[in-house]
Amino acid sequence: MSAVAENLPAQSPLLEARDLVAGYGAIEVLHGVSLSVLPGSITVLLGSNGAGKTSLMRTLAGLMAPWRGSIRFDGESLDRLAAHERVGRGIALVPEGRMIFPHLTVEETLRVGAYGAWARPHFAESLARAYALFPRLAERRRQSAGALSGGEQQMLAIARALMARPRLILLDEPTLGLAPKMARFVFDLARELRSAGLTLLLAEQDVRMSLAIADQGYVLENGRIVMAGAAGDLAADPRIRTSYLGL
Ligand SMILES: Nc1ncnc2c1ncn2[C@@H]1O[C@H](COP(=O)(O)OP(=O)(O)OP(=O)(O)O)[C@@H](O)[C@H]1O
Ligand SMILES: [Mg+2]
Repeated sequence: MSAVAENLPAQSPLLEARDLVAGYGAIEVLHGVSLSVLPGSITVLLGSNGAGKTSLMRTLAGLMAPWRGSIRFDGESLDRLAAHERVGRGIALVPEGRMIFPHLTVEETLRVGAYGAWARPHFAESLARAYALFPRLAERRRQSAGALSGGEQQMLAIARALMARPRLILLDEPTLGLAPKMARFVFDLARELRSAGLTLLLAEQDVRMSLAIADQGYVLENGRIVMAGAAGDLAADPRIRTSYLGL
């Protein structure tokens, strides 16, 4: 390494969570979770059912208040910001289960995504971009969202998040229940969004596919990070191979 490279500061994370503790009622489910996400990367969050992936995503998005710990985004503290204010800073959540309102049309759903004051002026441009990315949604723009297939609803949930013009997308199990072809579409899309400069944090149970597209990963078990590293290293790790890849 050259002296110049050594003197460069390490790339600072876009998102940094420190020692997050959170739970429901009296039950603690995140026991001090720290993670950082580099700009322009895909970070995958692995963990089996009940590990705390959704709780962590919701805490990052501001939908759940942590009991302790802190979250910084682009160098600024998010701790006092409500969920909608975090959307305004550039964080969009694609929730587990998609959370699509069945009675809204496709286009009405996308309009909801662009509701924020910063996103609304760009609505037409964002809509054109969403339809270019998802031609199937363009064909179905006047159809009610509830009549879409599971895969189409997942596209709609992602498109709705993009309408907010985020810098970071939190994707909570986007391929759950999708046919392999549709799951592949979602993983390809994640790569495409990274190429376009977006940053992604992806909770996934498809360990093989998600590690194949990710730059780094974290493994959450019972509310604690038990492993972290470069995606390639995790994919080769014997513990991952036996516990998560069934090898
Ligand atoms: N609304 C809730 N009220 C009480 N406990 C909850 C609630 N939601 C989740 N939990 C508990 O918190 C823990 C973590 O759940 P969480 O949904 O965050 O896990 P997950 O990793 O997303 O799981 P999955 O892969 O099944 O989506 C579990 O023990 C779960 O039972
Ligand atoms: Mg979950």
